[in-house]
Amino acid sequence: MNEKPATEKGNMKGKQIVVGVSGGIAAYKAAELVRLLVREEAVVRVAMTANATRFIAPLTFAALSGNRVISRMFDEGTGAIDHVTWGQDADLIILAPATANVVAKVAHGIADDFLSTMTLAATARILVCPSMNTRMYENPATQENVSLLQRRGIVVMEPGAGELACRDEGPGRLPEPSEIVEEARWILSDQDLAGLQVLVTAGATHEPMDPVRYITNRSTGKMGYAIAQAARIRGASVKLVSGPTSLAVPRGVDLESVTTALEMRQAVLKHFAGSDIVVMAAAVSDYRPHSTEGQKIKKGPETLAVELDRNPDILAELGQSREEKHCVLVGFAAETDDLLANAEKKLKDKNLDMIVANDVSREDAGFAVDTNEVKILFRDGKVETPPLMKKQEVADLVLDRAKTLWEARPRHGK
Ligand code: CTP
Repeated sequence: MNEKPATEKGNMKGKQIVVGVSGGIAAYKAAELVRLLVREEAVVRVAMTANATRFIAPLTFAALSGNRVISRMFDEGTGAIDHVTWGQDADLIILAPATANVVAKVAHGIADDFLSTMTLAATARILVCPSMNTRMYENPATQENVSLLQRRGIVVMEPGAGELACRDEGPGRLPEPSEIVEEARWILSDQDLAGLQVLVTAGATHEPMDPVRYITNRSTGKMGYAIAQAARIRGASVKLVSGPTSLAVPRGVDLESVTTALEMRQAVLKHFAGSDIVVMAAAVSDYRPHSTEGQKIKKGPETLAVELDRNPDILAELGQSREEKHCVLVGFAAETDDLLANAEKKLKDKNLDMIVANDVSREDAGFAVDTNEVKILFRDGKVETPPLMKKQEVADLVLDRAKTLWEARPRHGK
């Protein structure tokens, strides 16, 4: 395996991004968006409408982006053809927040200021993030404008719902800057997993003893969620079967929430047949209480024995039942000792194509942290030992390898 290690397929390093800010109360959130994009090492330029400059100073964006900000068509410092070159040099234009007025102007080709003229002349992909009063957003005029933009291949993010600055309740809130960045990653990625169905499991299961107690483990779901997110950004259609977690569902990922191992098994079996790549990152509880009490178990004798039943091994069942070549099957092995030997045994016993082994006794790898140092074992005996990486990088590496195995399958292109 001398391929390049993790590539972070949605990487925005060096990408040219223009953020177009228009005059809504959410304009302040665009500052955070610019900061996040700069942190991703994108080259960010900001164009503002005149109204936007009443909500937030151009200087803020100039400082955050390190580039000059244009808010007027004919200001000193605005080059004669900036309105053409900005949108043509860019990889992506993000209009955030996009007011009803800007949505309407872009939909109808109106070019009466720098921002709208630049957008009309652009060859870059465009991401529109509407933010406005609920009634303005729900007005058929805006809705039709949004549909028009979408029909032209412009990506429009659904605004968040909730209480707005104007005290109205409903859709109209600018999505969180981190969500906008995630959408931008998806647009800019090379979509190398497009057409593939990826099934990911994540998190721990809860095995109830009574209405208030359950058996679980320390898994937080971070690794599985990172894989689901990366697969979606790379164009796959992703189903995520997750035990209870506190993590946000990655954008564009179809979540099925479960609680127990038995529920997880049901959900996984339901989606297994249609999946091309299956990644079992969940920490499934191997045992469940033999019986679940209907009422809270009261304090009693000094010791209390709880009888446990073995849960089915979901991954082993998939490995044993799968038709040869139907999918690439990836397992995880959480170990505290004899990492390689234990992982290799699981790879063979469960009939997997690859297994990602991690030492969960380490502080910088395994549960609840953002980094992981894994070893990847393959069916043919090869072992890959990448360095300590962010979980997102591990996710991309795992998907890179799974994709290679998928492509090597004789029946690829089913
Ligand atoms: N797994 C599963 N169903 C179970 C237990 C585990 O599908 N009942 C899957 C996990 O999602 C993981 C792989 O099997 O992909 C290995 O899980 P792990 O907990 O490391 O190992 P176990 O097989 O449970 O073995 P042990 O607990 O004895 O180490």
